[in-house]
Amino acid sequence: MKRKATKLIHPVQPKEPGVLPHFGAAKTPLYASSTYIFESAEAGAATFALQQGRALEHEPAPFNYARLGHPNLVQVEGQLVALEGRERGQIGGMPDEALAFESGMAAITTSVLALIKPGSVLAYTTPIYGGTIQFFKDFLEPWGIHCYPLRQGQPTESHDSAPNPIPDILYVETPANPTNEQWSWDRLRTWVDQWASNGKRPVVMADNTYLGPCWQHPLEEGADLVLYSATKSMSGHSDLVCGACVGDASLVRRIRSLRNKLGNTASPFTAWLLSRSLETVQLRMQAAQSNASILAQRLGQHPGIQSLAYPGSGAMLSIWLNGGEEHRIAWRFLNSLQCVQQAVSLGSNESLACHPASTTHSAMDPKERKEFRITDNLIRLSVGLEDVEDLWEDLQQALEQAFAAG
Ligand SMILES: Cc1ncc(COP(=O)(O)O)c(C=O)c1O
Repeated sequence: MKRKATKLIHPVQPKEPGVLPHFGAAKTPLYASSTYIFESAEAGAATFALQQGRALEHEPAPFNYARLGHPNLVQVEGQLVALEGRERGQIGGMPDEALAFESGMAAITTSVLALIKPGSVLAYTTPIYGGTIQFFKDFLEPWGIHCYPLRQGQPTESHDSAPNPIPDILYVETPANPTNEQWSWDRLRTWVDQWASNGKRPVVMADNTYLGPCWQHPLEEGADLVLYSATKSMSGHSDLVCGACVGDASLVRRIRSLRNKLGNTASPFTAWLLSRSLETVQLRMQAAQSNASILAQRLGQHPGIQSLAYPGSGAMLSIWLNGGEEHRIAWRFLNSLQCVQQAVSLGSNESLACHPASTTHSAMDPKERKEFRITDNLIRLSVGLEDVEDLWEDLQQALEQAFAAG
């Protein structure tokens, strides 16, 4: 059986005896076709029957319509399955454990919506990505879904009984954007077991965007589904917006069915470009991690830094600057950067820095921002693949500028 790095590079090819796939192209071409021709009416009918879970009376056509499936989607979803170390099953031509979407938010919203009904309860770890919390608060709650936050200190560690009410979905983000706050999987599993023994086991979903697909595998930690903004380290070049969901085949089937209806399936171009990026994701993430760990170690000793959170792997640093909890010094630091780019998003090959309190997490309740340490002196740094000495020189001079002006 092939190993992960090999599976990421060698795509699943359609095989016909004596015919080279894709006319012999070494790489799967971009299939810019919205619809697919049936050899017969029987084959067309069988393709729809397959998608709808009905009995087949004829051999189905490989594809029917690009919103429902296309060759580039099959390839990228196969890579997503490999990346999470899952065994590849098939529904028709499609991997049955992975889905690619047109954005990370499409993956999150579609997956949650597919698994709730009126009156459902969702519990979520805090802090959490700004767009996700807005979806919970501005959309789900008005529609009657009770969403409640889980806080690290509650219940106390000594009486760590699972919170109430029992959720239908436990939504986890660890480490969390933007503070690198970490939740213990042991603790979360204990709660899930307690909830299960009290009558209901929630579906566990984990947004693994922040650490990325190489250093943590939530499916091995007890999650049923792992979600990604594939816009980040999976794409890795700031040239694509896309999302992914991988996990339990029966849940994935329900989410695919909603994706087909909402129509946020990754397009051929999105899937093709993500597929190319996934071939190098492990190498890119190792190099970024190596830069990040050097910078974390050096920044941690810099007198301008009040505190720093780095989980020991990955490429995301949370940096709290000295000089009080207000934005003046943080903004001067950002405005002084010359090599690191000042932008939101993360996980790219260029380093990016942002001020979460006034950007990605600015729509949050200010009291909650403070409680979760998303303070005005917090900088989020996504470390890229530049020469680490250039990055270090840039960070040093920006820190100097930030404090020089007094
Ligand atoms: C942790 C996390 N989850 C989800 C998203 C949303 O992804 P997208 O912007 O691809 O929709 C982001 C975006 O920054 C994120 O950081």
